[in-house]
Amino acid sequence: MTKILVTGAKGMLGGDLCPMLKDEGFEVFEADLHNMDITDVTMAKAVINAEKPDFIVHAAAYTDVDRAETEKDRAVLINKTGSENMAKITAGLGIPVFCISTDYVFDGTENSPYKPDDPVNPINFYGQTKLDGEIAIKEHNPRHYIFRTSWLYGIHGRNFAETMIRLAGENNELRVVDDQKGCPTWTVELARVIISFIKDRPAYGTYHVCGSGSTSWYGFTRKIMELADISVKITPVSSEEFPRPAKRPAYSVMDNANLCPDWQVSLKEYINRRNMVKLSS
Ligand SMILES: NC(=O)c1ccc[n+]([C@@H]2O[C@H](COP(=O)([O-])OP(=O)(O)OC[C@H]3O[C@@H](n4cnc5c(N)ncnc54)[C@H](OP(=O)(O)O)[C@@H]3O)[C@@H](O)[C@H]2O)c1
Repeated sequence: MTKILVTGAKGMLGGDLCPMLKDEGFEVFEADLHNMDITDVTMAKAVINAEKPDFIVHAAAYTDVDRAETEKDRAVLINKTGSENMAKITAGLGIPVFCISTDYVFDGTENSPYKPDDPVNPINFYGQTKLDGEIAIKEHNPRHYIFRTSWLYGIHGRNFAETMIRLAGENNELRVVDDQKGCPTWTVELARVIISFIKDRPAYGTYHVCGSGSTSWYGFTRKIMELADISVKITPVSSEEFPRPAKRPAYSVMDNANLCPDWQVSLKEYINRRNMVKLSS
């Protein structure tokens, strides 16, 4: 049976990916901080040697974009050194690795969708550490899939859609940034693409795996409220109204070569599914 080791198994992506892999008949080893710290090379090597996976999906990361601006050493240790550890260990054992990366490797100054080979130039520290992780994977393990995703939401983590639904219950008006554009991506769609790559084994390389189409945070919020049937005033504002420690790219739309459906179709499925989960809990 094909065995997949998932790092960051308890995270938002891992929480959807692991059960989906099992449903497809794969054996799964769920690695996370408690049983395989990716920054501890001796521990990581011992676990991977013992488990002997056929593929590794490396989804563990330091994901707090704003805090990375001040917790720089920790962000580097997890996103750069941790990825380098994964790259070297998997390369030594001939294991293909999926590395989950981000649209924040781009500076957002373009006005047409970014392609995988477009020049990178991160404008925040998190983006730089994720790019360094990509570089380490490329340098050390030729059997790699780098999947850049963006604006990720899913049932197993804190995310924009749930934050907005909560805020709509607490406020009469939502003021939402309308001058940053990107591609909302449901974790389940990203997991579906990972599984299809494990089955079909297309060429190794860098892929953009995000929802098709694009919107602003304001447009995303409007669609969330429409699909969740929530009535609240939503006002578009500029990024200047919400200064954040980390800069965000104004335009991080990626060309996904049709790997995922339209973001609005996925969002509808997500809202239906999260409503069912809320009803049954
Ligand atoms: N969320 C987004 O909007 C977004 C957008 C683009 C790309 N991505 C990328 O997509 C991937 C998955 O993101 P996500 O939202 O699922 O992240 P997440 O929910 O923050 O999950 C990351 C997981 O990694 C674990 N982890 C942290 N440090 C570790 C270490 N040293 N060793 C082992 N595990 C460690 C975390 O454990 P603790 O919680 O205990 O720290 C957590 O379970 C990441 O690579 C992220 O950079 C995310």
